[in-house]
Amino acid sequence: MSSLSLKGRVAVVTGATRGIGFEVASELAARGASVIACSRDIKSAQAAAKKIGCAAGQVDVSEAASVRDFVRGAKKEHGRIDILVNNAGYPFAPATWYKKFHDVTDDEVDAVIDVDLKGTFRLTRAVLPVMVQGGRGGVIISISSTPAVAGHTEGAPYTLAKAGIVAMTKHIALEYGPDNIRAYTLALGNIATDATYGAMGEKERKAAAQENAMKRWGRPREVARVAASLAGDDFSFATGNTIVIDGGAVLL
Ligand SMILES: NC(=O)c1ccc[n+]([C@@H]2O[C@H](COP(=O)([O-])OP(=O)(O)OC[C@H]3O[C@@H](n4cnc5c(N)ncnc54)[C@H](OP(=O)(O)O)[C@@H]3O)[C@@H](O)[C@H]2O)c1
Repeated sequence: MSSLSLKGRVAVVTGATRGIGFEVASELAARGASVIACSRDIKSAQAAAKKIGCAAGQVDVSEAASVRDFVRGAKKEHGRIDILVNNAGYPFAPATWYKKFHDVTDDEVDAVIDVDLKGTFRLTRAVLPVMVQGGRGGVIISISSTPAVAGHTEGAPYTLAKAGIVAMTKHIALEYGPDNIRAYTLALGNIATDATYGAMGEKERKAAAQENAMKRWGRPREVARVAASLAGDDFSFATGNTIVIDGGAVLL
């Protein structure tokens, strides 16, 4: 079997109804994985899963009980979880994004952290025992953003939340390396989804494209292909890494 094949692996992808999550779920499925495409809304998850040809799952990563019930159900139905992609992210909120750091409230920070950071934590915490007990290891890929490693002048709550993901990945890599569980952070630049490109005017889109060496937006599929590669055996001796996917803006 090709090392690119994910046949026989069960993969969970959060926020898989659209954008980057949808492409990641599609790419994992195309490489043979049994994918569970997740949303907070089961009908949306089912619609996405139908397009992909995979299973659907309902999970709100900001609710511990929802995460627990989802993982329990997934294990019961699929027997195992080999790949977890923490993609769910708090929606872009312009009112908070453009605030000066010193004007940001506790509630605004909590709202973003609850989904992006604690959501990633909750699901990872629930999935790790399934991977360990399965005895075959696993791969945990968490979606972050370039401000997490390079800082930014806007979106302070987002920077805080996404930076925590980088540290969480390193922690998981070290603590669970002996269990053959690998962890990666994808730090994304401007990737064209409805939430970003779709929400901007032409002028903003052009300006964003100029931010990187390649002078263009990334495509969700370009993220999905990296995620699918990491999930496979080609990266069997690399773990804890932060992989920047931004067309050459932030160079580590
Ligand atoms: N696009 C970019 O340029 C870019 C750049 C850097 C980082 N990122 C990150 O990449 C990820 C995907 O971004 P995107 O552009 O594809 O955004 P998107 O279209 O807004 O997708 C975000 C997904 O998160 C899910 N979600 C939100 N809150 C949730 C919750 N409490 N529990 C479970 N799922 C939840 C949503 O699913 P439901 O509404 O169906 O539940 C949605 O599918 C995010 O983490 C984002 O921060 C994106």
